[in-house]
Amino acid sequence: MDVRWDHTKGRRMNQEGLEALEAAAECVARARYVVALTGAALSVESGIPPFRGPNGLWTKHGEPPLNRFQRFLANPRRAWGERLNPTGPMRELWEALGSARPNPGHLALVDLEDMGVLRALITQNVDNLHRLAGSRRLLEIHGNATLIRCLGCVTRFRSDAIDFASLPPRCPRCGGLLKSDTVSFGEPIPPDVLEGCFEEAARADCMIVVGTSATVYPAAQFPLDVHQRGGDLIEVNPYPSELTAVSRHTLQGPAGEVLPRLAELIRSRLS
Ligand code: APR
Repeated sequence: MDVRWDHTKGRRMNQEGLEALEAAAECVARARYVVALTGAALSVESGIPPFRGPNGLWTKHGEPPLNRFQRFLANPRRAWGERLNPTGPMRELWEALGSARPNPGHLALVDLEDMGVLRALITQNVDNLHRLAGSRRLLEIHGNATLIRCLGCVTRFRSDAIDFASLPPRCPRCGGLLKSDTVSFGEPIPPDVLEGCFEEAARADCMIVVGTSATVYPAAQFPLDVHQRGGDLIEVNPYPSELTAVSRHTLQGPAGEVLPRLAELIRSRLS
C-alpha cells in the first residue's frame, strides 16, 4: 500500500497516505524486534547528495572504480594524498560531510530507540550523523568518515589523533597501515561490524528501510532476508526501489518528513 505525499497540495498528505502511515505505525508497534537500515538519502535533507537517482553523485560523475581498495594497497601514499586533497565528486562529498547536521529523520530514529521500539540501526552512511543525533545501537557497515582504521589491528582512531606529517600514516598501536575507516569498493567489510549486522538482521521481524536504492551488497541482503523469513519491510523512499515490490508498506515521501510522523503515530500506540 502506498503513502503518497501530495506535492500538488504542498506536501499535505492525502487520506490514503494517512491511512497507510497509520497501518505502517501499527505494523511497527506490533513487531517483536525492529531494526532500521538507512542509506544516503536519509541525509539528503542535511545537504549530502545521494549516490544514485536524480542528483546522485555517481549519476553526475560516474560510479567510482570498483578496485579502489586494491589501488589503495598498491600505493597508499598516493591514495592518502588524494584523501587529504580530494578533487571532483570526492571533494563535493567531503565538503558536504564537513558541514552536515542531523535532520528530523535522524532524530526520529533516536526517538524510536528511546521508546524501546528500535533495537538496532544499520547504516550505509559514512557521514557520522546518526552518532551526532544520539543513536546508540549503531552499526556503520561502510565505516565512518571521521575515523581512521588500522588494517592490521582494526583499531579505529579519531582523525585528530593521527600524525599525517609522513604518508602513509602508521598505527600508533601496532605500526600497521592506516586507512580512512570508510569502506572502499573492493574492500571487505570489517568483520566486527559485519557480524553485528548479520546478528541484528537475523533477529528482526520488521525492518524500516530508509533512503536506500538497496543495490549494494551485503547491506541490501538484510531486508531481503527479513522478507524471506516472513518479516515486514517498511520502506521510506520518494521513489520506487529494488525493495518496493517486497515491502509491506511503502511511504513515498522525504525521510525527514515521513519518519517524525511515523514515530509520533508509533508513540501514540505504545501509551
Ligand atoms: N528521502 C528518502 N529517500 C530518498 C530521498 C529522500 N529525500 N531522495 C532520494 N531518495 C532515494 C532514492 O530514490 C534512492 O532509492 O534514496 C535512494 C538513494 O540511493 P543511493 O544513492 O544508491 O544510496 P545508497 O543506497 O545508500 O547507496 C549504497 O553505495 O555508493 C555506495 O557506499 C556507497 O553507502 C553507499 C552505497
